[in-house]
Amino acid sequence: MNKPIQITDITYWVGVNDRETDIFEALWPIPKGVSYNAYLMIDEKVALIDTVKNSYVTHLLDKIQSLIGTEKQVDYLIINHMEPDHSGAIDIIAQMYPDITIVGNSKTIEYLEGYYGINQNVMVINDGDVLDLGEHQLSFHLTPMVHWPETMMSYDIQDKLLFTGDAFGGFGALSGGLFDDEVNVEYYEDETLRYYSNIVGKFSPMVQKAFTKLKGLDIKIIASTHGPVWRTNPGLIIDHYDRWSRYEAEDGVVLAYASMYGNTKKMAEAVSRGLVVGGVKEIRMHDVSRTHVSYMLKDCWRYKGIILGSVTYDVNPLITMKHLTDLLEAKQLKNRTLGIFGSYGWSGGAEKYLRGFAERTKWDLVEPVVEAERRPSKDILDQCRQLGKNMAARIVKDA
Ligand code: FEO
Repeated sequence: MNKPIQITDITYWVGVNDRETDIFEALWPIPKGVSYNAYLMIDEKVALIDTVKNSYVTHLLDKIQSLIGTEKQVDYLIINHMEPDHSGAIDIIAQMYPDITIVGNSKTIEYLEGYYGINQNVMVINDGDVLDLGEHQLSFHLTPMVHWPETMMSYDIQDKLLFTGDAFGGFGALSGGLFDDEVNVEYYEDETLRYYSNIVGKFSPMVQKAFTKLKGLDIKIIASTHGPVWRTNPGLIIDHYDRWSRYEAEDGVVLAYASMYGNTKKMAEAVSRGLVVGGVKEIRMHDVSRTHVSYMLKDCWRYKGIILGSVTYDVNPLITMKHLTDLLEAKQLKNRTLGIFGSYGWSGGAEKYLRGFAERTKWDLVEPVVEAERRPSKDILDQCRQLGKNMAARIVKDA
């Protein structure tokens, strides 16, 4: 994808694929890469919508110049989001096009100075303002905290194309296909949910506010800063985002356990059998010491039931389990049904901690809470199976 791709009569994708970064935001693994989507509108005025990570600026410039040549100027740079995966090329673009006007809201302009020392040639827009490009007009819609304070969206009124920033975006580099009708949508759906849960999910109430604000727009195309451009079925990604931000979940259970010598794992196996006997088909089992929290968080966002089991280590759950529960609390995931089990070791502590987690999250707790003093007895394993069955009865329709 080394050439621009035309989206409408005047709008082109001029983004890049990052297949080199291993850990996005120094937190989240991206083995399938990620795209940084920028867009160029060529009307009487030329407008660039967002940029790319700084290490890819030459690729962005190549694409821009292949469309407008080296003489013509870019008149406007519209900044929907200031996180450096999109703003990283701003200073180079500003040097290349010294007369460019940088367009953003008051927060954008504050961050522009903070990150890049730029405070000249800026245009501060307010919610609902319109910028005239010639045949086309762009309206601006402030959507704060989706997922930074300055996040906003820009809407091509003529083509009904919404440039959404990170919203509706996901992990996964583009492998030749840009549009939703050119790719296997399921491949991107899973990585989009992982992106949502890892990065945007904490701000779900603000996503709902953004939906309310955007209700009046007739949206035919969604062009996010990551992942495919949705031109055939934008309703699909809108519906996903709506459900995820309302914490709506599917029938299924995440069963995550921390085990040092196999005793807690044995309990997890018994719980899983109880789930299946109770009618659960979608079970995602994770050894928390082996699966990255990014993937467990994604599964927790997808499914209604979450069962956590941990060995006690230093009077607490194993640190890898604590990492998962800390993250679930930090992301403020709501409306889940929780099961707890674990082993006591020489002090006890994991079960007490997980009960505290249940209280703090206010998730529905399924009985029994099962704790093995050391090696789980037959009676303890029976209780684990019962926990699985009871969870199944709570979450599976018609169970
Ligand atoms: Fe893709 Fe929030 O940056």
